Amino acid sequence: MMRIVVATSNKGKLREFVELLPPEMRVEGLDAHEGVTLPEETGTTYEQNAVLKAEAAAKATGLPSLGDDSGLEVAPLGNRPGLYSARYADDTRLPGEPQDVANRRKLLVELRRSGAPEQEWHAKFVCALAYAVPGQATRVFRGEAAGIVIAKERGTNGFGYDPLLLLPEYGKTFAELDDRTKNRNSHRGKAVAAWLAALAP
Ligand code: IMP
Repeated sequence: MMRIVVATSNKGKLREFVELLPPEMRVEGLDAHEGVTLPEETGTTYEQNAVLKAEAAAKATGLPSLGDDSGLEVAPLGNRPGLYSARYADDTRLPGEPQDVANRRKLLVELRRSGAPEQEWHAKFVCALAYAVPGQATRVFRGEAAGIVIAKERGTNGFGYDPLLLLPEYGKTFAELDDRTKNRNSHRGKAVAAWLAALAP
């Protein structure tokens, strides 16, 4: 069985990778590798950060590794929070408030302040996925998923901004979709599909 490390300590993401990768791959998160930590995300693009993560994991474990970097780009906010989606609400987070909850709260506050009408709250999730194998050149793949931000959260699946991003073709948010449907339509699912297609002989 092929072992593959996913350079993340985000449980929501790791769960998605376990479901996205074929059953003959044994997916291991960073938690399974004591002492291996994520590098700082010092890149200026999703691709650069994905490569930093994948190569750090491959170097530390000696195993083929995937690193992903993702974010939500919201058109009326000039494509913010983008690269900074994970820590978006660091400045407005209340004591004890989970990061994802604070991020979603700040997103709605900023969108209301922007003055843009709700039907124009276009946004997309972006994912860069890097595949690093010790001794080989690292390859990078990309996936995107476009939707509309809604004014009130819906659904309890997924993580992060999922309850706020509506996929018009399903009339559901990512947090209302079942896992298989989210994975088939998500930025991460599309990037993984591109990687698997490139791996195939
Ligand atoms: P990073 O890729 O670990 O830097 O984190 C990107 C951030 O974007 C996450 O912490 C989430 O807030 C958000 N994000 C990325 N992918 C998703 C997704 O599939 N659903 C909801 N939020 C996401």
